Amino acid sequence: MLELLEKFTAGFGPAGEEMIITELIKDEITGYCDEIKTDKLGNLIAYKKGKGNKKIMLAAHMDEIGIMITHIDEEGFLRFTPIGGVNPRILRHQKMVFADGTLGTIGVEKLDDIKDLKLEKLFLDIGQDSKDKVEKQISIGDTAVYQKNYYHTGDRIIANSLDDRAGCALLAGLLQEIKEPAHDLYFVFTSQEEVGTRGATTAAFGISPDLALAVDVTDTGDTPEARTMDVKLGAGAAIKIMDRGSISHPGIRKTLEELAQKNDISYQHEVLEFGATDARAIQLSKEGVPSGTLSIPCRYIHSPAEMIDVNDYKSCAQLLERFVTSELLDEI
Ligand code: CO
Ligand code: ZN
Repeated sequence: MLELLEKFTAGFGPAGEEMIITELIKDEITGYCDEIKTDKLGNLIAYKKGKGNKKIMLAAHMDEIGIMITHIDEEGFLRFTPIGGVNPRILRHQKMVFADGTLGTIGVEKLDDIKDLKLEKLFLDIGQDSKDKVEKQISIGDTAVYQKNYYHTGDRIIANSLDDRAGCALLAGLLQEIKEPAHDLYFVFTSQEEVGTRGATTAAFGISPDLALAVDVTDTGDTPEARTMDVKLGAGAAIKIMDRGSISHPGIRKTLEELAQKNDISYQHEVLEFGATDARAIQLSKEGVPSGTLSIPCRYIHSPAEMIDVNDYKSCAQLLERFVTSELLDEI
C-alpha cells in the first residue's frame, strides 16, 4: 500500500496535466477491473462489477497544485500565476520542477514588510541569464510543481502531493484487493480538483451514481497554536461532517461511523472550516447524489512537506473496504 503511495506522489501532475498520473495508476489497476477508460476531461474511470444493488462512485483526485509561467524577462527570470491554492509564503525559496525535469528556485523581490509578500513579488530562477536561453527550455504556459520528495520516518510519511495521491493510492489498493463488491463500483481518479472540482463534475454526470464517496486529505488542529480543529494526526480515519463545499449526507456519515465502530477501526469526526472535496461537485449533479468524504488527516497541506500517519492511512483503507462491501448502503 505504501509502495503505491510512494509511486503516485513521485509523478508530475498539476491540474489539467494529469496524464503521467493516469499512466501510473493504470499500470497498477489494469487487470483488476471490468472496464477502464479516460473521459474527455481527463478523469480515469475504472469500473468493477458487483452484485448490482447500487452504483457507487468513489473519487480521489490525481491533480496537484502548481504554478504556470506567464512571463520571461530579459535577464531570464520567470513570472507565474498559481494553479490552485498556492501560498506565497510557502513558495518562497522552494525548488520547483517542470514536466521535463527542469529545476528552478523561487526568489523574492526586496520587501520592506513581510506582509507585502504576494505572489507577484516572487519569480522563478532556472539558472539561465537571458530570455533567449530560458526560451530554449521553457514557454509561456508551461507548468511546474514542488520538487518531488518522499520520506518515511517512524509512523509518518512526509512528502508532497499527498493531497491527493494518498487518496488515489487508497482507491487503487482497494481495487487490487476487492473480490466481490456488493455494489457496482466506479473508481474515479479525477482531474482538476484543485482548480474547482471540475473533473468530478463531468465524471458524476457521465456515471450518474446512486451515491458517492470522495477520498481526500483534511487538515488537523494538533500543532502548536494551530487554528482550532478537532482532527488529530494518528487518531484514525476522519469522517467528514462538513466543509465549505459540502455537508455530508447523514446516511453516508452514519454508515461510516457504524462500520468503524463494528469493526474496531479508529475514526474521528471532521468539521473543516475551509476547503472542499470532489463531494461538492458530485452531490450537486443530477437531482442530487447522496455524497460524503472519507478524509486522511494531513498536516501542512499544499506545502512540499505534507505529513500523514500510516496508521490513519490503514484505518482509512479498512473503512473504505468495509464501506463498499456493506449492505447498509442499500438503505441510503
Ligand atoms: Co488540495
Ligand atoms: Zn485534495
